[in-house]
Order: sequence, then C-alpha cells, then structure tokens
Amino acid sequence: MERWIEVPGAGALREGGRGTFVVDGYPLVLARVGGALHAVEDRCSHDDGPLGEGGLEGCELVCPRHGARFDVRDGRALRMPAVAAILSVPVKEEGGRVLVDAGAL
Ligand code: FES
Repeated sequence: MERWIEVPGAGALREGGRGTFVVDGYPLVLARVGGALHAVEDRCSHDDGPLGEGGLEGCELVCPRHGARFDVRDGRALRMPAVAAILSVPVKEEGGRVLVDAGAL
C-alpha cells in the first residue's frame, strides 16, 4: 500500500547532487539525475557499505567500500562485487515538497 512521507530538505538537491535522509527509520540516498529525484536504500547489497558516503557519477552510485556501482534510478547492480539490486523507492515532487513512498520500505 502506498504511504507517502515528506522528506524535508531533499528538494534543495540540484542536478548531480545526492544526500542521505532517514525516512520512517530507513536511511535512504536521494539523488537528482536527469532532472528527476530518485531514492534508493543507503546500504550496499555486497556488504552493507554506506552508499551515501560514496560518489555519484552520472546515474551511478559508487560504494565507498569496494567500488560496486548501482543505478540510482532503479537500484540495479552494475559492477562487481555487488550482484544483487538495492531497494529503489518511488519519489515524487509536489509543489516544492519531496515525498517518498514509505510503503515500499
Ligand atoms: S560493501 Fe559495497 S562494494 Fe563491498
């Protein structure tokens, strides 16, 4: 079931920017790529690395531990050593507010 929760401060992210936010107790990385905001879990599927502390290169979020990459748009694993996707969470912007679907968490 959808459950949209506002993420204060996320609307300030500019193109190529990313930040970590705790939503409903879950740490997420939000990033703006191609003009749109995307949200994924802040936990690498390889060994729980903090993805929000890594870099963002285009649409690729880079794990700071061992270099795995994930597509921030859908959570797909793009580079070893990660093979499993990370959770991708729906995001929408309404009147300057950023909302994520906590029902997907
Ligand atoms: S914990 Fe992310 S690549 Fe190993």
